[in-house]
Amino acid sequence: MSEVSARTGINLGVAPVTYGTGDRPPRGNYARARSDYTCEQDHSTYTEAEHDTYRRLYARQLQQLPGLACDEFISAVRQLGAPDRIPRFEDVSERLMKATGWQIVGVPGLIPEEAFFALLAERRFPVTDWMRKPEEFDYVVEPDIFHDLFGHVPLLFNPAFAHYMQAYGAGGLKAGRLDACELLARLYWYTVEFGLIDTPEGLRAYGAGILSSAGELRHSVTASGPRRVAFDLRRLMRSRYRIDSYQASYFVIDSFEQLFEATAPDFTPVYAAVRARIAADGLVEAGAVLADEREFEVRAAQGS
Ligand code: PHE
Ligand code: FE
Repeated sequence: MSEVSARTGINLGVAPVTYGTGDRPPRGNYARARSDYTCEQDHSTYTEAEHDTYRRLYARQLQQLPGLACDEFISAVRQLGAPDRIPRFEDVSERLMKATGWQIVGVPGLIPEEAFFALLAERRFPVTDWMRKPEEFDYVVEPDIFHDLFGHVPLLFNPAFAHYMQAYGAGGLKAGRLDACELLARLYWYTVEFGLIDTPEGLRAYGAGILSSAGELRHSVTASGPRRVAFDLRRLMRSRYRIDSYQASYFVIDSFEQLFEATAPDFTPVYAAVRARIAADGLVEAGAVLADEREFEVRAAQGS
């Protein structure tokens, strides 16, 4: 995350630098967005080709969900609406509001962390309004509407997870004041984006980065390469992650209640302890397993 502009929660009409030092500005028209970075979804401007890309992405992911995605995700995914057209944010918000009090709001793309946290703390989830290009069908560098909607929104229908996301937003605003956003970002990465959950039927994915990915869904749950260890807040806050390939490590929760409870205490002493540990021992590399950690077994998934 960049030092300066990622902290600025106010849109000045130009693309913010949100990752790295910004050799390439984010896509999206920030001049259209309000000062809180939200913008109207101009649904009439999606082309038939863009609706078709959505339809094909949705169909490809939907057919691989059984046995790989958690039940909470599978039972909620239909709430996104008809799978053959890009949904209207208003329609999804109406259903979501009834279920958990969340709404989705359009944004032009990646937004600075402070603006992001402020929206989550108000139960407003920002969804990028543009669709990837056909040549990005398998891999898109920045989150687009498909990742944000299909990956993130179904679990917002689950009360425990919805509660966690709001708490994360409030915790993010606080982390900004404590200069701890980097530590908190690792928590987001390894839960909201790439989390696995243990169930009586075996491991399942709940992270949006996995659920919206064509290849990583099966890989994360069934492949023998990646390491899978139990969720541990402090361990996770000092673990490096990969942004340009499948994860080398996944952290496994028992339930969304566990996730919420483990993250409910005040993080002020947690941040101090983790900082001291990093100063002493450094970060844990992606793909490393510590001496006292037990790896989860994977079972061969059906149909692979
Ligand atoms: N309990 C955290 C704090 O005091 C807030 C938080 C909750 C952060 C849930 C992340 C997820 O800072
Ligand atoms: Fe995401």
